[in-house]
Amino acid sequence: MKTQTLAQTIDFGRQLGARLRPGDVIALRGNLGIGKTQLVHGIAASYLQKEVHVCSPSFTIINQYEANGRTVHHLDLYRLSTLEELESTGYWDAIEDPNALVLIEWLEQVDRAQPLDFVTIDIQFEDENDDLSHTPRLFALHGSGDLYDRLADLF
Ligand SMILES: Nc1ncnc2c1ncn2[C@@H]1O[C@H](COP(=O)(O)OP(=O)(O)OP(=O)(O)O)[C@@H](O)[C@H]1O
Ligand SMILES: [Mg+2]
Repeated sequence: MKTQTLAQTIDFGRQLGARLRPGDVIALRGNLGIGKTQLVHGIAASYLQKEVHVCSPSFTIINQYEANGRTVHHLDLYRLSTLEELESTGYWDAIEDPNALVLIEWLEQVDRAQPLDFVTIDIQFEDENDDLSHTPRLFALHGSGDLYDRLADLF
């Protein structure tokens, strides 16, 4: 899947969000500024059926959005590096919440922080040498199982 603009990335997030269910866990992987948080914006808006103001949880570690009886936990582990640091953030409760959709940026920052069951959306710049605010974004899905099967044809 390729998006040419921010609006297309948000729209792609909306398509993904329409297929997601409580208990799903997705890791979003890709460089700083590539569009992970913007994809979350689209996913959360369609999953919650409400326009949400999504801001980056790099400092709060976990942000939560709720609407229409549904919950999204949005996490960003960029500033963390050890499991000990994670413990005080409520991380495990958030990722094991069976009633919430869980979206995690920078999961790879913390060794052994991996949820039991999750898929990864990988995002890359089409051309690293181009103006990064304009170069298209390429999306790929990795993982297996029911969640993978529900999303795979969108990529
Ligand atoms: N095709 C595109 N898709 C998504 N974002 C784009 C696109 N083209 C340009 N952008 C810009 O790239 C930026 C993406 O920012 P965003 O905060 O979503 O990145 P991020 O991957 O979450 O970064 P971080 O790792 O710092 O959290 C925004 O400023 C957005 O306007
Ligand atoms: Mg982000």
